[in-house]
Amino acid sequence: MRRKIIAGNWKMNLTLPEAEKLADALLNNFTQANGAGMILAPPAVYLQRLAEKTRQHPYIQVSGQNCSEHVAGAYTGEVSASMLASIGVKYCIIGHSERRAIFHESDSQLAAKANRLLENNVSPIFCCGETLPQREAQAHTTTVKNQLVNGLFHLDARAIQRCVLAYEPVWAIGTGVTASPQQAQEMHLFIRRTLAEKYSKEIADRLPILYGGSVTASNAAELFSCPDVDGGLVGGASLKADDFLKILQAYKIPG
Ligand code: PGA
Repeated sequence: MRRKIIAGNWKMNLTLPEAEKLADALLNNFTQANGAGMILAPPAVYLQRLAEKTRQHPYIQVSGQNCSEHVAGAYTGEVSASMLASIGVKYCIIGHSERRAIFHESDSQLAAKANRLLENNVSPIFCCGETLPQREAQAHTTTVKNQLVNGLFHLDARAIQRCVLAYEPVWAIGTGVTASPQQAQEMHLFIRRTLAEKYSKEIADRLPILYGGSVTASNAAELFSCPDVDGGLVGGASLKADDFLKILQAYKIPG
């Protein structure tokens, strides 16, 4: 069975006391009744603190929100994959649409970031997804396929199995408009088939594909009931412990 993951992307929010309070509330109230694990992606400056807090927890891990595509050196302001690894970070989001759009990150930069992370035993959480004009032009599948091919498919069969994927339609991120369960399932199945064509059905069937984009406590259960949706990458609703815990509980073991 595939790993089920509920990940919280805190983006550029919260002070350290607020971040600690949120992490404590999640740690104290986490119940793993449904087999889903939790990943918290706080701002980089809080990663070490949260990695220490969650170290003993079997089902809660921390994730970076981004990393440099370079190994080390004169890159002022950047955080390297080896730095993340050295403080106990096991995951790192790459290719979030905000990084692609606001910071103009290219597929080739993302491919290099994936390499740096994997060299350091950090699992990339690779985001893909189309914009509204791309969907309206019926280019959503081509867009996502190109993102996978150019950002991820240089990896060999062993390396791809250490990745987590996240389908995040850009039009659903932070907008309150979520993809319908049918739209989510269609794209997740498309991504899984694309992975199967490149690697193998066995590998594709094992890779977790998370859905992201306006996931809330009220729509999570429906989205997570889709057979190819293996959990969520949650932005806004991950900043409130109650909401995020409800989203975690919304995942039900299939069958
Ligand atoms: P949202 O963000 O849940 O606030 O839409 C999701 C994301 O950006 O990962």
